[in-house]
Amino acid sequence: MSYNIAVDGPAGAGKSTIARAVAKRLGIIYVDTGAMYRAIGLHILRQGIDPGDERAVIAGCDNAVITLKYEDGAQVVCLNGENVNACIRTEEVGKVTSQVSALPAVRSRIIALQKELAAREDCIMDGRDIGTCVLPDADVKIYLTASSAVRARRRCDELAARGQTCDLARIQADMEERDYRDMHREANPLRQAEDAVLVDSSDMTPDQVIDRILELCGRQEG
Ligand code: DC
Repeated sequence: MSYNIAVDGPAGAGKSTIARAVAKRLGIIYVDTGAMYRAIGLHILRQGIDPGDERAVIAGCDNAVITLKYEDGAQVVCLNGENVNACIRTEEVGKVTSQVSALPAVRSRIIALQKELAAREDCIMDGRDIGTCVLPDADVKIYLTASSAVRARRRCDELAARGQTCDLARIQADMEERDYRDMHREANPLRQAEDAVLVDSSDMTPDQVIDRILELCGRQEG
């Protein structure tokens, strides 16, 4: 049986940074499920499909094959064989992704891939519905969050570091809109699993969050 850690939480809570570091410390793989949905979002955007048009989105997904591979321990997400890691991190793709990932037909395809991967590999997987739906029997479940002001500030710093311009107020408003959509959609909304441990990183450094998660993993293993 593989060892699985589930990390859920809203955008900008630091899930990917933390999960990547924990994966490295434990020698397991990190699965960024948001990247898989973002690849679908990119596909829809590239085809000029209206993300609000459910039928067109579902039809548009028919010719999208999403695969994951690992290069030097880093996840590479491919869309029809093309490495799209560098194209999926824009706010534009994030917005479309939040809309298309609400569709059950889109989710069921991606979730099947995630379950398969987790059954095969020891991994830490982050997303919105990992503890509640994808890996209900995960060994450790974390719900990682932070205030929306702190999350928007972090996302802005991240974008600025990549040379992208940003408007803090707009990022915070977009983030709150996306949180609302992720938490209120019918298909697998973002929520804390009953057996997940809540970690609020608003006043914590990344190292403190990583140590807390390693401590929880140690407790569960021991
Ligand atoms: O974590 P992220 O910002 O890369 O996620 C992008 C979008 O994908 C986000 O709006 C929610 C959606 N998502 C999801 O519905 N389920 C997941 N397991 C991961 C992401």
